[in-house]
Amino acid sequence: MTEDPIELFGQWYREAEQCKKIADASAVNLATASPSGAPSSRMVLLKGFDQDGFVIFTNLKSRKGKELEQTSQAALCFYWAPLARQVRIEGSVVPVNDEEADQYFGSRPLKSRIGAWASRQSEPLESRTTLLKQVVIQTARFAQGEVGRPAFWSGFRIVPDRMEYWTNGEYRLHDRILYTRDMDGRWQHGLLYP
Ligand SMILES: Cc1cc2nc3c(=O)[nH]c(=O)nc-3n(C[C@H](O)[C@H](O)[C@H](O)COP(=O)(O)O)c2cc1C
Repeated sequence: MTEDPIELFGQWYREAEQCKKIADASAVNLATASPSGAPSSRMVLLKGFDQDGFVIFTNLKSRKGKELEQTSQAALCFYWAPLARQVRIEGSVVPVNDEEADQYFGSRPLKSRIGAWASRQSEPLESRTTLLKQVVIQTARFAQGEVGRPAFWSGFRIVPDRMEYWTNGEYRLHDRILYTRDMDGRWQHGLLYP
């Protein structure tokens, strides 16, 4: 058992990335809640992690974007089936700064950047044609210049205060290690019944 859950995450994440049976180790379920407490979840891609937290990017006006801003709380759940491992992460949410968002947005393929401009993520869409028209309009608009990041598109950092590592065990006797941050910001850990 290691003292530092982020370090442990690094080890497990590397193993998931190296596992040929895992198509995309970065795919993770992100759970948010409305201000009244109604939960919702969806898959996103983890775009970075370090001692400061776990970074994801999205449209800020999407359902998740609004809920992350409104409640400043989120949970992530990875499941790497071929390794029989689950990692749960819970914590507070802070927006990434513009520089970090610009840097990641700039690294995306051109068509994904145009797609971000064309999509009003999570709003009702009349027809697929309407979306494709938007792609044409945005492509023409940016024909001459750089496709910069829209103000409505950025990222969030989930700053963990609770992380749980789960390994499948025989006869449902799974291993669960829970890390929680204490008042001084230090990680404490212990076991949970499966
Ligand atoms: C594997 C996978 C990865 C995804 N990654 C992202 C992502 O990084 N950011 C994002 O905004 N949506 C991503 N999506 C789409 C979301 O699951 C979701 O459909 C969309 O963001 C709208 O969610 P919302 O209405 O709850 O905001 C991904 C979907 C899948 C299946």
